[in-house]
Amino acid sequence: MTTKHQAKILIADDERSITDGLSAILSDEGYAVDVAVDGQKALERLSSDAYGVVLADLKMPKLDGLALLKEMQEREIHTECIIITGQATVDSAVQAMRQGAYDYIEKPLNSEKLTRLKALIPKAVDKFIVKQTNRALTSELANLTHYGELTGQSEQMRSVYQLIEAVAPSTASVIILGESGTGKELVARALHAKSDRDTGPFFALNCAALPKDILENELFGHEKGAFTGSTNEKQGAFELAHGGTIFLDEVAEMPTDIQVKLLRALESRQVRRLGGKKEISVDIRVVAATNKDLEKALAEGELREDLYYRLAVVPIYLPPLRERVGDIRLLANEFLLRYSRQNNKKVTGFDDAAWEWILSYNWPGNVRELKNAVERAVIMCRGTTIGAADIVPRHLRASGEVPAVVSVRVGSSLADAKKQLVLRTFASTGGDLERSAKLLGTSTSELRGELSRLLSANGNDGGARAEKRPAAAPAGKAKKEEPKAKKRR
Ligand SMILES: Nc1ncnc2c1ncn2[C@@H]1O[C@H](COP(=O)(O)OP(=O)(O)OP(=O)(O)O)[C@@H](O)[C@H]1O
Ligand SMILES: [Mg+2]
Repeated sequence: MTTKHQAKILIADDERSITDGLSAILSDEGYAVDVAVDGQKALERLSSDAYGVVLADLKMPKLDGLALLKEMQEREIHTECIIITGQATVDSAVQAMRQGAYDYIEKPLNSEKLTRLKALIPKAVDKFIVKQTNRALTSELANLTHYGELTGQSEQMRSVYQLIEAVAPSTASVIILGESGTGKELVARALHAKSDRDTGPFFALNCAALPKDILENELFGHEKGAFTGSTNEKQGAFELAHGGTIFLDEVAEMPTDIQVKLLRALESRQVRRLGGKKEISVDIRVVAATNKDLEKALAEGELREDLYYRLAVVPIYLPPLRERVGDIRLLANEFLLRYSRQNNKKVTGFDDAAWEWILSYNWPGNVRELKNAVERAVIMCRGTTIGAADIVPRHLRASGEVPAVVSVRVGSSLADAKKQLVLRTFASTGGDLERSAKLLGTSTSELRGELSRLLSANGNDGGARAEKRPAAAPAGKAKKEEPKAKKRR
């Protein structure tokens, strides 16, 4: 008999009538079935072969059901376990559930119990497959330094990669949150590229860059004669993105009445052109982004709550660069390579002072600011190594005083307050060790030691995780100039 299911089943019981009966029934259901006549043999089989589900008798020679479950956990065998138990041992079955068994069935296995078992097994198999897939995914993505066009090896970025990988295949709407320059557009493109819509269009529309009427026209299109001067019909972004992804950038800037129309389109998956009567069905995945403080935008009614919930089926939060110092070095080196090639220069690295400044600066413009700073430094650099003078922005280099204010929340530790003060002082002097030491009332050698200690600890920062959604406060917002609606393929 051919098997139609992916996962094999193991029956572990010392009662021949049970193993024979269950084997026959489950084979008929299309499962590949093996039998073990005691707990020890079951454990051996589970260790050497992959099973989706084991049906284990609670009372077995050599190793009983509970002990088998415990051994499976210790050996990291992830097979789902359904316990088969006599009525007298129901308490132990409950205990087995607490120990991670999927479920239990009481003997005798009459037709009612068998029906229940037949319903239970595919569910347990599904759980096994989902867990197995997630484990594979997690370990596959656990060591990544790049994903799509994104660079980053911090724990936070790896969580972002996992989230993208998990949601890309679905049509669930996604909202990407994060300060300006954190890579929201790259995430939107990765979501498209990793989905099976990647052969369809990716259509990006910046809601902040367009006046209301034009935005509405770009989104929904119009019929011929819809308004003065509309001599031709025009397809909107929804129609143009059919079969692909539409990226609504800076969605919180969208005028409220267009938000209402957008919500309707998202709910019905249909759009009506301006001046049109016909509803046009569209198959699209919507990805939105905003660098606004969401709680504020929602509270002040800038972004409609019903639209937000419709968009935020899956929110992806991109942490600011200063919270993932572990990525700064990787990104800086990559940009250095890119811009030396582009500019035909033989710039090969950063000197210590440059690194100290790069790693301690708080990068309010995030990756975009770092990228621009490295590009400028490569162009300015006269030798082969970038020094602090090449990379530190002029306004920070020129200032004679410390402009920054260090705000330390009550509840922070002394060590944390010290760290903030030291790093910010150093950064705001443009990486001038001597001047920083003077300001902090310490010696240059002591400060150097302190900095290297703080910076190596920084690389391991845990920080916020991708799934969490702290308010995304736009700091030092450097607004990117976006051309009008554009189609990228
Ligand atoms: N993780 C990253 N790896 C490589 N490049 C990045 C990364 N994040 C951002 N960038 C680069 O930084 C610049 C800004 O990224 P992007 O436009 O995606 O930011 P954004 O979050 O959309 O910003 P804004 O809110 O201002 O629109 C781009 O040039 C992008 O290529
Ligand atoms: Mg953007």
